[in-house]
Amino acid sequence: MTIKAVVFDAYGTLYDVQSVAAVTEETFPGYGEIITQVWRIKQLEYSWLRSLMRRYEDFSVLTRESLAYTLRILGLKYDDGVLTRLMEKYLHLDLYPDANAALAALKNRKLAILSNGSTDMLNALVRNSGLDRVLDATISIDSKRIFKPAPDAYVLIEEKLGVQPSDVLFVSSNPWDACGAKSFGLNVAWIERVTPEAMAQACVKSEMIAPLTMFKAIRMQMDELGVAPDYRIHALSELPGVVAAHGS
Ligand code: LAC
Repeated sequence: MTIKAVVFDAYGTLYDVQSVAAVTEETFPGYGEIITQVWRIKQLEYSWLRSLMRRYEDFSVLTRESLAYTLRILGLKYDDGVLTRLMEKYLHLDLYPDANAALAALKNRKLAILSNGSTDMLNALVRNSGLDRVLDATISIDSKRIFKPAPDAYVLIEEKLGVQPSDVLFVSSNPWDACGAKSFGLNVAWIERVTPEAMAQACVKSEMIAPLTMFKAIRMQMDELGVAPDYRIHALSELPGVVAAHGS
């Protein structure tokens, strides 16, 4: 079976969510790292909580609410202007350095994003980073009003691209997303950006565990959910090899 479409998660996979640290630190010196980690942890948590509560709001709303939570619990002063300025970075996140080369090497397949991001924030991000020129589709889960890893979200790939799950390689560095996609029935490549060895090392180096280390421990290690991705890679640059070898 050959891969007809390669579909990417956006935040954390093609785009580096940690790149918000530049603006969080600039706005609140000394708090950049803790804001960055709590913000992302809560943003994801709110997507799952709202899905379970059946109180869907789009991802830009959750991103703003999780930022407000973060600044509030840290006792930082902010107003709407601050929230808007920090949120703006979500439309200008850095691409991972190997993203453009990997996409170029895969251009003979359909290429798309399937993300929990709202339609507006994804379209702006894709345009600002120039990926609108290489992607065939940018798919938001908005129309389903439920977030990944709900199966209804992954259904959108076949609905929008007309490619059946067995012909799709779904790529995510988010373990929960890789598990959700695999459980749904897609072929999955998980990008393991933090090895268990690096993780263990980060935890023994000092008695104070940095917020980023904590984030890596809870959001970047493979989960225990009873499913495993088909491929475990370490960078986007390994994808062309995976696609070429698949089914051969
Ligand atoms: C995405 C996130 C939530 O779907 O990583 O892009």
